[in-house]
Amino acid sequence: MKTFFKIGNVVVSPPVLSAPMAGYTNYAHRELLRRLGGVGLIATEMVSARAFVCMGERGDDEPERLWGVRDEPRPLSVQIWDNCPETLEELAGKLAHDFHVSVVDLNFGCPAPAIAKRSASGSYLLRYPEKVGELVERVARACAPTPATAKIRLGVTRDSINARDVAQAVEGAGAAALTVHGRTAKQMYSGLADWDEIAKIRDVIKSIPLIGNGDIKTAQEAVARLENYPVDGIMIGRAGIDRPWIFREIACLLRGETPPPAPTPREQRDLLLSHYDLVVKRFGSELGVKLMRKIACHYSKGLPGARVFRDRIGRIKTGDEFLKVVAEDYCVDDSEERA
Ligand SMILES: Cc1cc2nc3c(=O)[nH]c(=O)nc-3n(C[C@H](O)[C@H](O)[C@H](O)COP(=O)(O)O)c2cc1C
Repeated sequence: MKTFFKIGNVVVSPPVLSAPMAGYTNYAHRELLRRLGGVGLIATEMVSARAFVCMGERGDDEPERLWGVRDEPRPLSVQIWDNCPETLEELAGKLAHDFHVSVVDLNFGCPAPAIAKRSASGSYLLRYPEKVGELVERVARACAPTPATAKIRLGVTRDSINARDVAQAVEGAGAAALTVHGRTAKQMYSGLADWDEIAKIRDVIKSIPLIGNGDIKTAQEAVARLENYPVDGIMIGRAGIDRPWIFREIACLLRGETPPPAPTPREQRDLLLSHYDLVVKRFGSELGVKLMRKIACHYSKGLPGARVFRDRIGRIKTGDEFLKVVAEDYCVDDSEERA
């Protein structure tokens, strides 16, 4: 069983990464993941290189998506996006040599119109493997010896799957690892991730790790992907938002141990409240509550009474209301026992 791999000189152990997810994987989420354990490499949300450079020129503070990045524990991967080599280079160099992050990851997978259409970045660039290669090369050079990595999709449409060409360009340009989400950009999040297409990339990249991503929902599925596909590591996104303890379950299975039980609803509520505290300390009550409404809905998924909780939490406006609804309605039965 694979127990670790390396991205440059960064050891990823266990070989399980948490995915970058805009709007979710901020410092508070990353801190909870660390407390729960089991993630080999934690990623930030994607950070706009252009926004960073413009803010620097105006003398403004750093983007809020860099919250925590300077000081939090390593290893940490920071994901950046843009299509301009100089802009990417500037942020990558800063992240590597000033922030001292462990890995700088380039986004070539985002299909959101604001990124792919209006900014000709993210998954838009998959059409142009040479351009991807150029951007990776510039970023890899700017952040060396800190490793640069890339995250891609299979291609833009099912008829134009070209992940093998993009993968070769990424490897040839000096990236230290490649992550592939097994969907096309056109699919957004519909259909299923195609792991057989991910596997086809293995024989074109020879010297860097391949990380597979898409639709892993349980610890057992995670282990099966590692066992049955020619990948060095796996990356988990949405399941880690709903159940951040999935990573410690996977780590246990990989060590041949029985995973601990999932946190009880009461323990989940405590996690949610710690999450809330971190977010509100940073963003204040108004924005913090807005961010936490959707997070609270994720936490409650699958618990009895979750619908009532979601209905109420979706309508709250203040921190006091948030705490009241969590205390009254967070699916905790007073006679609760572990399932
Ligand atoms: C709300 C949301 C935000 C995302 N943000 C990012 C991002 O910032 N950068 C990125 O490379 N991928 C992003 N993704 C894609 C995930 O990293 C991941 O590739 C995708 O969710 C598939 O993995 P999963 O099935 O384990 O969730 C995002 C996905 C979602 C649902």
